[in-house]
Amino acid sequence: MSEYLMEVKNLATHFRTQKGVVKAVDGVDFKVKKREILAIVGESGCGKSVTSQSIMRLIGNKKNEEISGEVLYHGENLLNKSPHAMRNIRGKDISMVFQDPMTSLNPAYNVGTQIAEMPAIHEKADKKTAWRRAVEMLTKVGIPSPKDRANQYPHQFSGGMRQRGVIAMSLACDPDLIIADEPTTALDVTIQAQVLNLFRKLRDETEAAIVLITHDLGVVAELCDKVAVMYAGKIVEQGTVEDIFDRPKHPYTIGLLNSVPVPGNRERLQPIEGQPPNLHELPEGCRFAERCPFVMDQCLKQQPELEPTDFEDHTAACWIEDKGGLYERYKGTRSSRRSEKVL
Ligand SMILES: Nc1ncnc2c1ncn2[C@@H]1O[C@H](COP(=O)(O)OP(=O)(O)OP(=O)(O)O)[C@@H](O)[C@H]1O
Ligand SMILES: [Mg+2]
Repeated sequence: MSEYLMEVKNLATHFRTQKGVVKAVDGVDFKVKKREILAIVGESGCGKSVTSQSIMRLIGNKKNEEISGEVLYHGENLLNKSPHAMRNIRGKDISMVFQDPMTSLNPAYNVGTQIAEMPAIHEKADKKTAWRRAVEMLTKVGIPSPKDRANQYPHQFSGGMRQRGVIAMSLACDPDLIIADEPTTALDVTIQAQVLNLFRKLRDETEAAIVLITHDLGVVAELCDKVAVMYAGKIVEQGTVEDIFDRPKHPYTIGLLNSVPVPGNRERLQPIEGQPPNLHELPEGCRFAERCPFVMDQCLKQQPELEPTDFEDHTAACWIEDKGGLYERYKGTRSSRRSEKVL
């Protein structure tokens, strides 16, 4: 048996559109171990949601959607499963939490019924047992007066409580893996903190692995074990939280760290200039080349693949050989660019 719960290999999701083929995900590899929290980070539009929805086979069912590669879950390729088999896996073995809780909640049913549905469908639990489980899950996610709240409808819940309700639903069948796509983005700051505390609790109390898609590097630093950095449909760097925050090797990762507030980073924020490439007119070489302060000839000609760095399991897709000290050099390059502009 593999030590990995899930291995995603060369996953590609392409959409055929009138403008051409959109390569939203274009050869993504990552692995998740039991109990591990993997963060997927990257700018808007880089393919994070399409990756997670492809894994869950929520994408790939329409004529213009093409998925290739492998998603090995307990060694079996989810991409070969029948829609029926996938319905059984979703919610039971792998569950998903979306950004907007109303994607998962039906306004016409009370929250308890919707949570109870999970054990009723997947475990054939009788009505009483399923309801008891719903109340238990609401308790677990910190909803006050869970017995009463279970009888209420989504509109009677606050935003944060709705997202907790969705997380309760995702936990109801004791999944191996939870994929959470920006679970806190739609919430206000105090509620975000509550939901993150809940994830912290889950990390400590459940056996489940979590794939957390987020824009928030602060959350990553605090909560996650490993990080995959995506850019224009590909993973450009992967490693432990320490690898990514303390010794980043890809100029894009460095740019990302410089452009968002990260605990402990007191430097002035410097956004990455320029835009990611158009996904249906991708360059031949490195996709970050156009924005990279260290761009070389080779970068324009050939796409780099993820290669090991000095640390085990820390990989980066970049042609620069000597990546040590790149972090410092990057800062220098960017501030001089800035002053050139001012002059
Ligand atoms: N059905 C579709 N047809 C064509 N293009 C699509 C389709 N779905 C997604 N895309 C494109 O795929 C790219 C990746 O989208 P995705 O939603 O995965 O981004 P993301 O990284 O999750 O961004 P965000 O951080 O904003 O949520 C985007 O450019 C998007 O426009
Ligand atoms: Mg998204």
